[in-house]
Amino acid sequence: MIRILCVCLGNICRSPAAEEVLRKRASDHGIALHVESAGTGGWHIGDQPDARMQAAAARRGYDLSPQRAQQVTLADFDRFDMILAMDQSNLANLKALQPAGSKAVLRLFLGNADVPDPYYGDADGFDHVLDLAEAAVDRLLREITL
Ligand code: 4NP
Repeated sequence: MIRILCVCLGNICRSPAAEEVLRKRASDHGIALHVESAGTGGWHIGDQPDARMQAAAARRGYDLSPQRAQQVTLADFDRFDMILAMDQSNLANLKALQPAGSKAVLRLFLGNADVPDPYYGDADGFDHVLDLAEAAVDRLLREITL
């Protein structure tokens, strides 16, 4: 089973949404994946996803409420096959942490663009995260099942 970690800064907005979109769509297609998410920062450890992100996700049928924020650990670089960063800054931080010998593939969730951080913006930003996540997940699932 492929193991995938979605990573953003706080693990309360973007990566929880990416995690659940990926888990739900993989499950809908009968694709066996283990998916988690984490933040490079530790400020929100133990918190539920941001209420605005939960509300936007719930309108599309995604339940983020069981999730609790966690911070990336060095063990994650061995526990996961693929680590998907939401933006270039997250990716740079992950590359700096990656231990020698870790075989985890690190890359951007969108492949070539950032998922904008919605935390300090307006409500539209959360819907935009979900639009980007749904498109990225469909591409990723096609790639995984080729
Ligand atoms: P996220 O958004 O990285 O998508 O979870 C953020 C949430 C919280 C903070 C930054 C980004 N923060 O600085 O507390």
